[in-house]
Amino acid sequence: RMPLKIEPVTKHFSAVASGVDLGSPIEAAIAVQIEAAMDQFAVLVWRDQPLDDEQHMAFTKWFGPLDPGLVSVTKRGSRFNQSGFIDIANVGEDGSILPRDNRSVTGSIANQLWHTDSSFMQTIAKYSLLAARVIPDSGGDTEFADLRAAYDALPDDLRSIVVDLIGEHHALYSRGLLGNDYTEAELALIPPARWPLVRKHPVTNRKVLFTPIHISRILGMSVPESRMLVNELIEHATQPQFVYRHKWRSGDLVMWDNRCTLHRGRRFDLSQRRDLRRTTTMQDDTAVGTAIANDSAQG
Ligand code: OGA
Ligand code: MN
Repeated sequence: RMPLKIEPVTKHFSAVASGVDLGSPIEAAIAVQIEAAMDQFAVLVWRDQPLDDEQHMAFTKWFGPLDPGLVSVTKRGSRFNQSGFIDIANVGEDGSILPRDNRSVTGSIANQLWHTDSSFMQTIAKYSLLAARVIPDSGGDTEFADLRAAYDALPDDLRSIVVDLIGEHHALYSRGLLGNDYTEAELALIPPARWPLVRKHPVTNRKVLFTPIHISRILGMSVPESRMLVNELIEHATQPQFVYRHKWRSGDLVMWDNRCTLHRGRRFDLSQRRDLRRTTTMQDDTAVGTAIANDSAQG
């Protein structure tokens, strides 16, 4: 049996993983090694692993309970024969490319803003696993930023500003920024979640600058001041030295740790098919409310 092989992209962030067939059941010991690599590199790229949905789900389940994402809001009919998948594609239920003004297409353009999956939930999203089926001829890369390195590199003045701040994350805020409209009822479906701007990774204990675009305001600050600060922090965190850019090939599976990264998609030609599908897991010991958030901000 081939062992898990890890080839770092940069010394501390992102790696290419190989040597394990993700389409077959893996052993617990391998899952533990994969987690260790995730704790070190935060993003793992698997090439030439064309998984079907069942294989993708079976692999996902090693890494925690499923996170449903925005499913309760978007109510989009599913293309998948099993639940738990988040559709990252401009493809309709009948397999056709959706028109560029389709509501699901316009909403998902917000994935091109720097974000963390499900930070608007008061549960902690752990890993996202995104699999590529069909990739457009050009464009549509996905970028990842290392929020551990971003925290470590904060200038002193910014570090002292963010230290005790708490952000309020709202599920549809980033979509609204781009001009998507939602009804009051839709907006109310997922209440905002609160997280400190400085969180700690539960395994590595490293501090993380947790500033996804889902933050619509910061407690104790005016809305304009909050939004400008979030912009500045995202700008800091996404400087080239903290970013890995993934150029997709069909059959890739990329997994990332939402607890210490931001990511964004890049523009592509919406008249072309781009079919990716994602699963996301939750941290097992997630508790409800801000108590755990405050704990994780301390020390
Ligand atoms: C996601 C996401 C970006 C992309 O799957 O969570 O943000 O490039 N994707 O599709
Ligand atoms: Mn995402």
